[in-house]
Amino acid sequence: MTMRKGIILAGGSGTRLYPITIGLSKQLIPIYNKPMIYYPISTLMMAGIREICIITTPHDQEQFKRSLGDGSQWGMDFTYVVQPSPDGLAQAYLLAEEFLAGASSAMVLGDNVFFGHGLPDLLAAADEKATGGTVFGYHVADPERYGVVAFDETGKATAIIEKPEVPPSNFAVTGLYFLDNTASERARAVVPSPRGELEITTLLETYLEEGLLDVQTMGRGFAWLDMGTHASMLDAGNFVRTLEERQELQIGSIDEIAFRKGWIDDEALARRAAMFGKNTYGAYLKSLLK
Ligand code: TTP
Repeated sequence: MTMRKGIILAGGSGTRLYPITIGLSKQLIPIYNKPMIYYPISTLMMAGIREICIITTPHDQEQFKRSLGDGSQWGMDFTYVVQPSPDGLAQAYLLAEEFLAGASSAMVLGDNVFFGHGLPDLLAAADEKATGGTVFGYHVADPERYGVVAFDETGKATAIIEKPEVPPSNFAVTGLYFLDNTASERARAVVPSPRGELEITTLLETYLEEGLLDVQTMGRGFAWLDMGTHASMLDAGNFVRTLEERQELQIGSIDEIAFRKGWIDDEALARRAAMFGKNTYGAYLKSLLK
């Protein structure tokens, strides 16, 4: 395993969720029984990542710190960095450059949920690749809302096009990017797009042009949800609730993952469980101790 570090991009303006996000960060609002950001944190944890840089707006940073602390309660290490204004996803690699200190990275968007059997294996394979990068293509009904992958006849990715009017395929690039340690240097060369953002697709194109980008498709067995609109937020909450109640297993429980990975011991988990009193989440954590 490489010494890959994690980045969670949890800034943005969240205008599509107004009026909720006028006074509250999108990534802290509840998705059923947890703050939204628990889900992307759990994704990075499943990739074995313990050091995470959490990028927020200047005014929301305090609330993230109150909610998540320094990560030590989960055997992790969180670093907080501010994005002064939402100037695009690729800017994360500039803001996190000092944190990365030459390490390769896995970045996940703070409003993305990944779920599915075999996800840890998919993440491990991406982590193994020391040079270049890996992104994931996911078949969606509305590709024009996303960065979309164009494939040649052999199924090889040839381009990624941001919000195309005529999508070259139905495969959207998900908000999870495994990139090598050249990402920050490459991000410096990215110029703002017509909408004024440092586009992640422009950064990914530089890898693609050099034949250094793997586009892995996530098949039917996976759920990829983003929670950027009122309806998708409720859908994600219902999805989590349905599976959790049916299986009596938690989705996105960073407490459980930390415990199963051996990053925290019985005592630390018991302390966390005690915090939640009699609620079902606390009862679930207690049941793991048996
Ligand atoms: P978006 O959904 O593209 O934008 P947004 O969250 O600002 O919301 P809206 O469109 O409703 O105004 O962002 C995807 C994720 O990336 C989300 O978690 C916010 C985050 N983000 C940043 O942290 N910084 C940025 O500069 C941008 C563009 C997004």
